[in-house]
Parts: sequence; C-alpha cells; structure tokens
Amino acid sequence: MPRAKIAGVGHYVPERVVTNFDLEKMMDTSDEWIRERTGIQERRWVEEGETVSGLGLKASEVALERAGVNKEDIDFIIFASMESDYEFPGGGCFLQEKLGLPGIPALDIRNQCSGFVYGLSVADQFIRTGMYKTILLVGAEIQSTSLDLTTRGRDMAVLFGDGAGAAVITATEEEDKGILTTHLHADGRYAKKLWAELPSVIFHPRLEPWMLETDRIYPKMEGRFVFKHAVTRFPEVIREALEATGYTIEDVDLIVPHQANQRITEAVAQRLGVSMEKVYSNIHKYGNTTAATIPICLSEAWAEGRIKDGDLVAIAAFGSGFTWASALVRW
Ligand code: UT7
Repeated sequence: MPRAKIAGVGHYVPERVVTNFDLEKMMDTSDEWIRERTGIQERRWVEEGETVSGLGLKASEVALERAGVNKEDIDFIIFASMESDYEFPGGGCFLQEKLGLPGIPALDIRNQCSGFVYGLSVADQFIRTGMYKTILLVGAEIQSTSLDLTTRGRDMAVLFGDGAGAAVITATEEEDKGILTTHLHADGRYAKKLWAELPSVIFHPRLEPWMLETDRIYPKMEGRFVFKHAVTRFPEVIREALEATGYTIEDVDLIVPHQANQRITEAVAQRLGVSMEKVYSNIHKYGNTTAATIPICLSEAWAEGRIKDGDLVAIAAFGSGFTWASALVRW
C-alpha cells in the first residue's frame, strides 16, 4: 500500500504588518497585555481586494517549487479555510481556477484551527487507497476583516492574523516515511464557546440590517474555557499518535502545534515533558492564522533547517468546534 509523504511545504503572508502598537491606536489595549497573555508581537493583515485563494496560490507556488512537482501533476486539491473569497462556493474552486487546473477535484474543509490536520488525514487516506498520487493541501485564512476592531472586541481582535501555507503530498513506497498516523476529534457540545453567530439560517432572510448594529456578527470566545480544553487536548492527541505508532515523545524531533497562544504552547511542552527547543513557535510574528498556522510553521521550520529529511514531526491542532487532531510524520 502506498504511503503519503510531504514532498514540499510553502507559505505566504500578506505584506502589511500590524503591530501591537498599531492596535493600541484602534482600541483600549496594550503591547504589554498582548505579549504577556499571548506572546504575539505583530500579525499580517491583508489589504482590500486580497483573497484567501490568492494567499493560497502564493503559498502553493512555493510548496510546488520546493517539492519539485509541476502543478499539472496535481490530481486533487484540498482547501482548508474558515471562509471563502465569496459567500459560496468554497475557496478550493477559486484556487483551482487560479492554478489553471480545470476538472481537478477541489474539496473544501471547514474545521477552523484543525482544518489543515483534518486535510492531512483526508490526503493520507486518498493516497493510501491509490485514488490520488499528488495532492495539494492548503490552509489559508483572512481573519482580519471579520474582527470587531473596537475595545468591545479586543479579546479576539488582538489574536488573529491572515496568511496561508501549503503542502504537496505525494505517494511513496518507502518504509517508515511520510504520514505515519492521523487522529481526528470533535465535540460539538462546545461549538458556541468559540463561534460567530450571524448571519444565520435561523433568520429569514439570514442577513438583515439589524444584525449589523449588534456585536453578534463578530467571532466570540470564552477564552479561559477554550484555554483549559486546549492545554488538555493538545498533549492527549499527540500521545494518541505516539501510542498508535509505538514511538515515544523522546523519538520526536520537532512538535508543531497550532499557534493559538504562546502560553498554551508552553503548557503543552510542560505537560509532554519536553523543552521548548523541541516545539516550534512563530506566533510572535503572525498571531493565530487558524488553518494556516501549521503549514506556515512547517514551511518556516523546513526553511530554517529545523525539519530535516528523516525527522519525526508531531503535528497537533485544537480549535473551534471544538475540533482537535494530530499527525505523526516521518519527513
Ligand atoms: O485557535 C483556537 C483556540 N484558541 C485558543 O485556544 C485561545 C484560548 N484562550 C486564550 O488564549 C486566552 O484566554 C486569551 C488570550 C483569549 C485571554 O487571556 P486571559 O488571560 O484568559 O484573559 P481574560 O479573558 O481572563 O481577561 C483578563 C482581563 C479582562 O479584564 P478584567 O475583567 O480582569 O478587568 C479582560 O477584559 O483582560 C482584559 N482584556 C484585555 N485587556 C487588554 C481582554 N482582552 C484584552 C486586550 N487588551 N486585548
């Protein structure tokens, strides 16, 4: 049976840098509060007119080049994002059009911060069954335009950034190589702990002018509740991947967690009994880019030489849904 290997990773972030000091001018917050509570120093936000599929395209081009794969060889596109360029269809079709690959299937995954790891699992299954041989998996987000940029929305507004990452996943016959295992979970009982309520189909029509006058159109989170679940689920789902493969945490060369909060990342390292040197973090530069954090991390870690051929990489995500997931990858 073929295995799925990550042949190349790439990323792209918008050029516009928004620092904590820039946010101080928009709302009652401080660089000190944001750094201490989250580890974030700056994030990238798009300019008007940029699209999630456009960010995804730029990340994909880098991943394809690094993988040494021609775009014509792609036989399946998986696009993980909370949003699309327009209300519908999903961003996968817009990306496919930009790549110029008519007829190639495009699957949209809407699993928030876990979207990329869910996508990794889907790609793995399709390659193992022999259905596809070369899959482009993209995580891309534009969060900045959904945020309440006033003091009312400051708890969420300071956290999120825009960006995209991509992985080219190919079939391999090599032993102990590629995606070794994936583990997916969800618990919809907590869907409203981190969500955006409006517009909603429960209203007829689903979008009405009064909605724009409320704060219910903005993403909301019970921060402490989400935090507590995150610090439990991350180590749990990483251990699940280790148990499934017989590896121990000592065998892992690098842990790449979804970038939600530097304090969460540090708590996860502590609970797993590993030093922060073994855990990749770039939240200080980009904030939380939802489905894009993990592929951006993989791309930077690879470029910096922190992921080398043969390394064992543990990937884990947790986010809205709640959804959480892990993958163990032999690079
Ligand atoms: O990616 C999906 C997964 N996401 C997560 O896992 C995020 C999990 N949660 C968190 O990371 C943290 O809960 C936050 C960073 C969101 C918040 O940190 P916290 O330490 O839990 O703070 P808090 O929400 O308990 O708020 C503490 C105080 C409050 O003021 P009072 O009530 O103590 O007077 C807030 O109003 O901080 C205030 N506050 C702010 N102050 C300045 C909240 N946001 C801000 C802000 N600037 N941006």
